[in-house]
Amino acid sequence: MRALRGVRSLSSRSERTVGVIGLGLMGHGIAQTAAEKGYNVVAIELEDKFLAGGLARVDDSVRKLASKAVAKGKMDERAAAAHVESTMARITATTDRDALSACDIVIEAMIEDLALKEKLYTEIGRVVGDECIIASNTSSLSISRMAAYCGRPGQMVGMHFFNPVQLMKLVEVVRTDATEAAIFARAMSFVESLEKRPVECIDTPGFVVNRLLVPYVCSAILLVERGVASPRDVDTAMKLGAGHPMGPVALADYVGLDTTLSIISGWNAEFPEEQAFT
Ligand code: 3HC
Repeated sequence: MRALRGVRSLSSRSERTVGVIGLGLMGHGIAQTAAEKGYNVVAIELEDKFLAGGLARVDDSVRKLASKAVAKGKMDERAAAAHVESTMARITATTDRDALSACDIVIEAMIEDLALKEKLYTEIGRVVGDECIIASNTSSLSISRMAAYCGRPGQMVGMHFFNPVQLMKLVEVVRTDATEAAIFARAMSFVESLEKRPVECIDTPGFVVNRLLVPYVCSAILLVERGVASPRDVDTAMKLGAGHPMGPVALADYVGLDTTLSIISGWNAEFPEEQAFT
């Protein structure tokens, strides 16, 4: 087996243990990616059944990626089986949030519910150490607000991954006015160690990608509603006319219509004068 590139540099990393809160659509992919790159992962969920569901998704995905690596001649069957086993073995699943005290970085990927986040971040602030990077994978909420909830604003960044995390190369790394320079630099290096490309961004609604993508997806839905073109033709137009891998209507489904609606309606309520959010 070829050495895994991310794993090779393990000894030179400052981060070893990654906490991932939430094993849903995004969180399971973040936990998997970190474990595949050799990090120990503490995966936290509210209930055992959510942990079981998230781990089953990770297991499916890591097997799929390993069998593709075999098909491409990058690994033999034995190495692929060992990779699946070692990846799964690096993930410790628990509902006990005190387990976050062992983490060098904590990435929160829970649903976008501010009341829940307030409670969660208060607890994170109580449990983690002074050197721990606290990162939120929020799509659209203010990082500064979460920094205030946890009471450790210098340690807080946004770390926004894209779906499917296992395949998408970009991560937006978001700083607030209070983020310490050393924490931000470590967050950028951590993303690079996952073999993803970080882009820096300040704390603004939607950062870069969702600020452009969500109004675009909503405009596509408006075109369909107005009878300009069918959903299929809107998607075909953007795939073949603009080179997008997926059309906007399919993308809205892929991200989740509930998520898309909650992002745009949240922005609309908070920034009623911004035309792009109507
Ligand atoms: N784990 C493992 N394998 C996976 C996988 C996963 N999670 N997801 C897909 N795959 C596999 C597929 O099964 C397929 O395997 P195969 O070749 O053996 O059949 C392979 O990856 C490629 O998938 P596709 O055949 O569907 O081929 P594509 O080339 O179309 O790639 C895609 C799929 C990467 C999803 C591509 O369509 C794409 O880039 N779509 C756009 C996605 C996008 O825009 N994401 C961002 C959404 S916004 C967001 O996430 C932000 C949030 O805050 C809302």
